[in-house]
Amino acid sequence: DQFATPYEAIGADALSQLVDAFYLRVHKHPLLSPIFPDDLSETARKQKQFLTQYLGGPSLYTEEHGHPMLRARHLPFEITPERARAWLSCMEEAMDELDLDERFQAWFFERLELTARHMVNTPDTER
Ligand code: HEM
Repeated sequence: DQFATPYEAIGADALSQLVDAFYLRVHKHPLLSPIFPDDLSETARKQKQFLTQYLGGPSLYTEEHGHPMLRARHLPFEITPERARAWLSCMEEAMDELDLDERFQAWFFERLELTARHMVNTPDTER
């Protein structure tokens, strides 16, 4: 491929737009909004840093916050399989909105599915 890293394939601008489109949906999602802060600007800033390095770009997240330890950082929140699916559906809709390259999107989404599954720390509640 003509790109050295997936980060270069998507580009900083599209990645930033993707994260913003994603958190707009998170903010409105009935299962997700209760565990996120009302003001998502700092969360979005960190996610842009994180996804930059996740995609092989500069280590912006680690430089400012140290080792990601993502699963540990998510332990304070009840992440059920249902919430993981909700997170992923917000991401998929954001990706569709951005009109990313289809092959890139499929590859990126698969990686996020694995990471999201790894964040699950609470079983679904029976209602
Ligand atoms: C932070 C939820 C999956 C990356 C957070 C926060 C919540 C959350 C509630 C704290 C927000 C804040 O206080 O600012 C979830 C849920 C997920 C999920 C419900 C469903 C599986 C993921 C995935 C990734 C990710 C798949 C990475 C690909 C991050 C990052 C932060 C974060 C980088 C910021 C950590 C920090 O405070 O430094 N997430 N998350 N999350 N999440 Fe997730």
